[in-house]
Amino acid sequence: PALPLPPLSGEAAEVLTALAGANMASLAFDPSSYTDETLVVNGKPVAFRAYRNIPYAALPKDAERQRMSIFIPAAYLTGGTINGYTAKTAPIFLPNGVGGYMPGEIQEPSERSRMTGAPNASLIALSRGLVVAAPAIRGRTDKDASGSYIGKAPSLVVDYKAAVQYLRYNAARLPAGNTDRIIANGTSAGGALSALLGATGGSADYADALAEIGAAGGRDDIYAASCYCPITDLDHADMAYEWIFAGVNDYHQSAKGSMPPAAGAASSGNTAVNRPLNAPAEGAAAPMTEEQSTASARLKELYPAYLNSLGLKDASGSPMLLNPDGTGSFAEYVKALYQASAQSALDRKADLGGADWFTVRDGKAANVDLTKYAAWATRLKAAPAFDKLDRSSGENDVFGTTANVPRHFTDFARRYDPAHGDLAPDADIRRMNPLGYIGTAGVKTAPHFRIRHGAKDRDTALAVPAVLALRLQNAGIDVDFAVPWGQGHGGDYDLDELFNWIDRICK
Ligand code: DHB
Repeated sequence: PALPLPPLSGEAAEVLTALAGANMASLAFDPSSYTDETLVVNGKPVAFRAYRNIPYAALPKDAERQRMSIFIPAAYLTGGTINGYTAKTAPIFLPNGVGGYMPGEIQEPSERSRMTGAPNASLIALSRGLVVAAPAIRGRTDKDASGSYIGKAPSLVVDYKAAVQYLRYNAARLPAGNTDRIIANGTSAGGALSALLGATGGSADYADALAEIGAAGGRDDIYAASCYCPITDLDHADMAYEWIFAGVNDYHQSAKGSMPPAAGAASSGNTAVNRPLNAPAEGAAAPMTEEQSTASARLKELYPAYLNSLGLKDASGSPMLLNPDGTGSFAEYVKALYQASAQSALDRKADLGGADWFTVRDGKAANVDLTKYAAWATRLKAAPAFDKLDRSSGENDVFGTTANVPRHFTDFARRYDPAHGDLAPDADIRRMNPLGYIGTAGVKTAPHFRIRHGAKDRDTALAVPAVLALRLQNAGIDVDFAVPWGQGHGGDYDLDELFNWIDRICK
C-alpha cells in the first residue's frame, strides 16, 4: 500500500520517499527467479533449485551485503520426500559464513569446503533433505557509500535475525521448508552468532535495529543452534583465558593479522592451514611482555568471582564453583570434559599428539592436569586475549565506532589502557553476549543446542563454551556438548554427526 505523502521539503521528504520506495512488498519472496543445479556427494547427484541474492532487509545499510540465497532440494518441487522429510516438514539449515567478526559470505553449496576440503555443510544439508537459507552478514569492516562503518556490534546478529524474519514472513511463499525448524550453524565468531541467534529469540533489545534496516518483523526465534568453537562471552573471555593459560608465557599469535587458509586445505586438527577464514594468524612463539604477564596474573585472579556469580549447576544439580586459587568443582567439570575427549581418543586408538596431561591405566584416561594441558596446547594469544590494552584485536574493532575507532568492552582493559580508550556502549556489549538472554523473560531461547570445541582449540578457553552449555542446560535447554579429540580451532568437521543430531531433534 502506498504511503500518503504530504508535501514536505528537504530531508524529511527524502526520508519518506526512501521509506515508501522500500515498502515491505520488496520483501516478498519471488518464486520465479531461480536456477536448477546439481552437485555430487559421495558419487551421488544432489539436485536443487537455487534462489540467489535475495534482499532480506527493505532498508539495507549495505544493499549488496544484506542478501541471502535459498536452496531447495529438487525432490520437494515434485511432491517427493528425502530422508523422511517433505516440502512441509523439511528443516531449514541457516549457516553463516562469519569468521573473525568480519563480513560473512553466503554459504553456497560446494563440493569442497574451504575449511575441510570435503563437501560443505550447505551441500550435505541438501543431500539430507534440508532446505538451506544462507545469508551474507555485515561485519566489522563494512562501510556504506558515505564511508560510515555499518557492520559493527550488534549489526551481525541483527542481520542474522532479519534473515529469520524474512523466512517466516515468506513461509507461505517458499516452495519448501518448515520455519518452525530453523537451525543456525556457524564456526568461531560465526559459532558465537549462531549461539546469539539461538539465545535471544524475540528479545526487544534488537527491535529498533531491526526496524532501522527494514526487517520483515515478526518472530526471529529459532529451533536449534549448532555452534562450533564459539568465540563468545567476549566481556569475560579474557579472565577465562588466563584461568587456564596464566603461567604459559609464550604466545603464538602473529602480529600480521588474519591469514586466509590455503585453498583446498583438507587436513583436520590444530594446523594453521585449516584455521577458519579471518581467524587470528598463527606465528612463531614470542614471550609476553611484562605488561601482558601482569595482566595475565590479574585476570586469572578475577575469574573465580565471575564464574561463581553465574550460579551454575551441573546436570545433577551440584553447584559449579571456583576457589580463589582457581581450583574447585568447575575446574573438575572442565577436567572431565578433557578426560572424556582423551578417553574417546584412547577408545579409537587415535594419535595422542604427545599429550602428557593425563594418565592412562588399563585403557582409561584419568588425572587430568590443567597446568600440563595448557603447556601442551600452547597459548595462542597474549593477555588480555580479546580486549587488548591498545585496542588492537578484531573484537576491539567489532565494538568500534561508525568512524572505525576501536573500543574496549571490559572495564579491566579500559582501566589498564594507558590511553584509557573508550568503552563501547553497554547496550552493544550486552547484545553481543548470549549469556544475558538465555531463559530470561520475554525471550524464546532455542530448545536445542549443539556445541563443539576442539580439545586443542585455544582461540578461546574451553571454560567459555562450557559456561554457555551449563547456562543453557540450567535453563532447561537440551544441550549436546562435546570436546572432539584431534580438533583445533575449526568447524564442520563432523557433518554426519551434525546432521544425525538434526534428524534426532526434528523427527
Ligand atoms: C575467530 C577467532 C578468534 O581467535 C577470535 O578472537 C575471533 C574470531 C574466528 O575464527 O572467527
